[in-house]
Amino acid sequence: MEEIFLKIEKAKNTAELEEIRILVLGKKGSLTAKFAELKNCEASVKKTLAKELNTLKMDFERALANKKEWLSMQELEEKIKQEKIDVSLFNTSNLRGASHPIMLMLDKIVGYFESMNFAVKMGPLVEDDFHNFEALNIPSYHPARDMQDTFYFKDNKLLRTHTSPVQIHTMESQKPPIRMICPGNVFRCDYDLTHTPMFHQVEGLVVEEGKDFVSFANLKFILEDFLKYIFGEVKVRFRSSFFPFTEPSAEVDMSCIFCRGKGCRVCSHTGWLEVLGCGSVDDNVFKAVGYENVSGYAFGLGVERFAMLAFNVPDLRSFFESDLRILEQFK
Ligand code: DAH
Repeated sequence: MEEIFLKIEKAKNTAELEEIRILVLGKKGSLTAKFAELKNCEASVKKTLAKELNTLKMDFERALANKKEWLSMQELEEKIKQEKIDVSLFNTSNLRGASHPIMLMLDKIVGYFESMNFAVKMGPLVEDDFHNFEALNIPSYHPARDMQDTFYFKDNKLLRTHTSPVQIHTMESQKPPIRMICPGNVFRCDYDLTHTPMFHQVEGLVVEEGKDFVSFANLKFILEDFLKYIFGEVKVRFRSSFFPFTEPSAEVDMSCIFCRGKGCRVCSHTGWLEVLGCGSVDDNVFKAVGYENVSGYAFGLGVERFAMLAFNVPDLRSFFESDLRILEQFK
């Protein structure tokens, strides 16, 4: 047994220790064999021998455990040494991406309206004529239906040209009160300095039961508050305009954020920037979805335009060229 204890002392790793344990206490181990011999002993010797064997076994196990703990610590220390972090190494996790400026603006816009209790609705990109035009009081002779503007499929389907059809889907699927926005991409067959075939809009709709419940004053308040949230202290004016789906309709201008209304190139020296379309929902739209005795307002905006103004990006195309030198500035 002496040499076994010596072996334990000399063991270089936990695997070697395990070998020793099996050699002594395994099925065919030396001590196991001695325990087995006990039953052949005379009763007088048996008791003392058993006691001796048990003491030996306990000593052996204690020695094994002590050495094992020491070796484990040793092995852990070795492992830690090898896993030392080289802080001078180039860290690839620095190559993290960032949100696209259009998404940053979209998030900010959606964030505002969510805080004002608007639900966020989504709609299909492939629409039919009824939802994209007809129900929105855009008659078949309206120039917006021109083949120049709309991507048509066969069988009367088309890529939505605006997010307004989500108004119709929402009103078809629920009763007032409605308080929703729809952010999303839209498509028009148009490509030049200021137009891309795909761009983003946010549509808004509020409908309440009762003819006079929702007024133009409510609309004015929310849009003015919204523009100030996005652009800071700006003056806001409503200019009467025309949209088939609203009556009365208005375009919303805010004072130019670059020259503070004095007049510059961006605002074409008018001091004003046009940023939104809006109005009270036209009765024909309510008729198309079978609503009666309701009132409401709607508005729509182009996200690219908002992002260009807020982030001072002069060229619309830079949003779509994936040029990292531009995108990296939005980290
Ligand atoms: N759908 C319009 C467009 O694409 C934007 C718009 C204007 C939406 C006025 C509205 C609105 O809901 O009231 O140009």
